[in-house]
Amino acid sequence: MALLEILCYPDPRLHKIAKTVDVFDERLDELVKNMAQTMYEAPGVGLAATQVDAHEKIIVIDTSDTRDELLVLVNPKVIWQSEENKSWREGCLSVPDFFDEVVRPDKIVVKAQNVKGDFFEMEAEGLMSVCIQHEMDHLIGKVFVEYLSPLKRARIKNKMKKRERP
Ligand code: NI
Repeated sequence: MALLEILCYPDPRLHKIAKTVDVFDERLDELVKNMAQTMYEAPGVGLAATQVDAHEKIIVIDTSDTRDELLVLVNPKVIWQSEENKSWREGCLSVPDFFDEVVRPDKIVVKAQNVKGDFFEMEAEGLMSVCIQHEMDHLIGKVFVEYLSPLKRARIKNKMKKRERP
């Protein structure tokens, strides 16, 4: 296993669109393991392949307190979402030290594949729902700060650029 480098906003590679995974082989298994290790090490509750510059539809999530309930979603699709929305204070490993409120559907049903290619469906609410939606946004090149006002976003960009300097 290996730790992967996490891209930081406003890196343009965070805006690439991920491709569908259609080969479920050892390479995929290795990538998923490395993504999980990178997420646990960060530490974070979720990581999308986009964030480690692998532009494939893969996300890893663990919202448990014990950090031993890894969820892997390959080619995830939201097949139902509640009309009711909820606001959560979100953060992102690609935007360290920034947190802000984002409004999203409260509950969702997702269809995805596991690392072997088997399809499954799951219903999610609360933190899990937020997390899946946040990570799925990464796969379409969207970072959560894009839900914020242009002013806030500009401020975050400036601060992130300052961080990059040695
Ligand atoms: Ni994120």
